[in-house]
Amino acid sequence: MKSPWVKQIRDYEGNTLMQTCLQELTAFLDYHKHHPDPARSITAPDQLLEVASAFFQLKGNAVKSQVEDVEFERHRRAVEKLAVEVCGRGYRGLEPSTTAKEEEPAELLPVWPEDVVGNQEYLAAGLRLARDVAGYDFEVGRNPKKLNPVLFGQGSPGCGKTITAHAIGNYFLKYCKERGVAARFLVIRRTDWASSFQNASATQLIKIFKEQVHGFQGVVGVYWPDIDTAFAARSDPGMRSEESNILGASFGIFDGTLIPKSGKWFLMCDANYMNMDEATLSRISQDPHKIKGPNSAEDFVELMRDKKLKDFIDMLQLSDQEWLQIGQLCIDSEFSGRNVEAICQNILTRVQDVEPPPEYYQVGFAERQRILRELARPMTYQDIRDLMNRFSEFEMAAEEQNQADQFQTRVKEIVLNLSAQKAALQSLGEK
Ligand SMILES: Nc1ncnc2c1ncn2[C@@H]1O[C@H](COP(=O)(O)OP(=O)(O)OP(=O)(O)O)[C@@H](O)[C@H]1O
Ligand SMILES: [Mg+2]
Repeated sequence: MKSPWVKQIRDYEGNTLMQTCLQELTAFLDYHKHHPDPARSITAPDQLLEVASAFFQLKGNAVKSQVEDVEFERHRRAVEKLAVEVCGRGYRGLEPSTTAKEEEPAELLPVWPEDVVGNQEYLAAGLRLARDVAGYDFEVGRNPKKLNPVLFGQGSPGCGKTITAHAIGNYFLKYCKERGVAARFLVIRRTDWASSFQNASATQLIKIFKEQVHGFQGVVGVYWPDIDTAFAARSDPGMRSEESNILGASFGIFDGTLIPKSGKWFLMCDANYMNMDEATLSRISQDPHKIKGPNSAEDFVELMRDKKLKDFIDMLQLSDQEWLQIGQLCIDSEFSGRNVEAICQNILTRVQDVEPPPEYYQVGFAERQRILRELARPMTYQDIRDLMNRFSEFEMAAEEQNQADQFQTRVKEIVLNLSAQKAALQSLGEK
């Protein structure tokens, strides 16, 4: 059954809709000019802005509830795939994201346990937890196994925390599917609970845990990345105390005061070693895992030769001994997994840096691939070593500073969004 407005939206053309929207805004402002409640009536020009933004908030909410109709399903899904930026604000579909560039993907990345190099102990602990949670007994409402549902890992930037968690998430869903167990995996992003636009706030976190984790008819895995930002935001002097308290309540997930540790769910969270003090750390977990990333010459060889560069391995003319030296150079240069990924990207670009012949543009994809391969430029040990040394010289220092700045920016963003939104709602009379 379609509501009449669905047809209306479809039939109206854009200009008419825009005019109607502006007319409604004028009427809304007019109404507030002589609002029956004097506290809400507009007396100063500044208030025009507040009332106008309240109008658009209402409108936005209405649109969001209306596009739930199947009629719009296809379009909604298409729009959700686009990252759109308007005046420096990022949107994905109709949902705003706090930054234009999304740092954490909402959906699981296509990575599997075998893609992860190093991190084996953490990975194994996560996979074990995933299997244990899959064994929850829905009839009795308990898990026959006693388990600690919180897995916490701490590691340096770019050591593979995110991909390890995503690999465990994919494994968990597949494992449950094969056994006919209803399951879901959630990734908690800052934009889900600290966004200035939608009604996302710290209460959203509590809602996620209560409704989408505890209330879900099935087993649930949750990944809360970069949790150090949430902890830092909570104790930031700029944070309003109500929001700080709510955020604190959501941390009850760790000690079982928010939702029971029933064995029906598990939570993976991680942080950078740089930003987390011992006291906070011990609150989250008695057993924090150190995530080291690739940390031997052999690990780095595996990451480069066997994983990231494997499609072009025939273009890289290195002996086993030379590969090991490359691996050792990664250790000596203190490269992270992410650095190495960037280096491998550079290598692949170099290998494929060729001028295709005119017929390239006339042939199909497979043929183009073949031409590229034929023209590809091999690289030697010396080439790769030079490229890595240049990377180490020019990119590393900038990267480190970048990481530190990024943490501060994220914390500020959370504090600003949570506190500013609350203030704005109050000045709108909590409509
Ligand atoms: N241990 C690893 N195994 C395989 N690939 C890795 C590993 N570490 C890093 N990488 C590569 O580096 C990229 C960045 O890793 P990832 O985002 O998981 O790091 P992170 O630890 O979450 O970093 P941050 O602290 O910035 O959140 C990955 O996409 C992956 O390609
Ligand atoms: Mg990460």
